Amino acid sequence: MKNILVIGSFGQIGSELTPELRKRYGSSHVVAADLCPKPDSPLADGPVEKLDITDAEALAGLVKKYSIDTIINLAAILSAVGEKKPMLAWNIGVNGMLNCLEVARELGCAVFTPSSIAAFGPDTPADDTPQDTIQRPCTMYGVTKVTGELMSDYYFKKYGVDTRSVRYPGIISNVTLPGGGTTDYAVEIYYDAVKKGSYTSPLGAGTFLDMMYMPDAIDACINLMEADPSKLKHRNSFNISAMSIDPEMLAAEIRKHLPGFVLNYDIEPVKQGIANSWPNSMNDSCAREEWGWKPNWNLQDMTADMLKVVGEKFAKGLI
Ligand code: NAD
Ligand code: SER
Repeated sequence: MKNILVIGSFGQIGSELTPELRKRYGSSHVVAADLCPKPDSPLADGPVEKLDITDAEALAGLVKKYSIDTIINLAAILSAVGEKKPMLAWNIGVNGMLNCLEVARELGCAVFTPSSIAAFGPDTPADDTPQDTIQRPCTMYGVTKVTGELMSDYYFKKYGVDTRSVRYPGIISNVTLPGGGTTDYAVEIYYDAVKKGSYTSPLGAGTFLDMMYMPDAIDACINLMEADPSKLKHRNSFNISAMSIDPEMLAAEIRKHLPGFVLNYDIEPVKQGIANSWPNSMNDSCAREEWGWKPNWNLQDMTADMLKVVGEKFAKGLI
């Protein structure tokens, strides 16, 4: 990767991936693009562009302007919002992604478009979910992810476009709040623990889902894109995980730091239904074998770090 375009760079993942890419590849080599870029953001330390991913001409224009060789496509409508706006989720998740693939084919770029645990559905084996298995999701978000995986493999096999991706689990982070997914609770719980000493979970006790702390999610993207292509038997997309947890496990870990923390439940049926259709825990052995995937953060270390950082934000009046 030399010149990188990050589309959706102001979202939960992009707001941390973009600075890390700039650290490693140089600020002027990483272009932050989004629908409505915020002018006062820390990302203003390098090139920032307004881009609607559904505008193929504008996308091609940016790729030419900055001699882009790698497109990191993070634009998406996440699972819970996607159920409210399915056509928007399809337009951005599928038509936007196809624009990336077509521009990459014409102008010679590599493409990273994350998939998700949402690419699986109720027919998929829920425990130790294999890399290659049944994928019949029941959300529009999941449908866009399976389509993205298939189209990315198609462009690699038919045109040689260097497409690679991971199936991210729920990402836990403390810079930008998540954008309307089913796993958002695992971020909100830390913020409410610090601010209120309690949290009301939309998912019930015993709802196990794969999760990951943001530094591991960033490493996964960069390490996969830098991996030796001759070692990749899979491409789109690799299962990756760091932990499989439910709300009770999160609460118990938070109580080690904040003993009075109270967890309540008010189940949101749509989110609960989505979560029930996703794996409890994915098997990520192919990613480990083919490009050396290995998470560095577990529940204990992540919780200590989340409470420290969110606590500092609270003390400064930032949240
Ligand atoms: P997010 O919702 O926080 O950010 C998405 C960004 O895309 C936003 O900044 C938004 O403004 C931008 N965007 C929306 N429509 C656009 C358009 N038409 N043109 C350009 N930009 C547009 O999402 P995220 O959590 O950062 O997710 C990034 C990627 O990772 C997505 O593909 C998502 O499906 C995937 N993923 C995320 C998680 C997670 O837990 N965060 C888990 C699995 C997969
Ligand atoms: N965090 C995402 C969601 O819940 C999973 O892809 O929608």
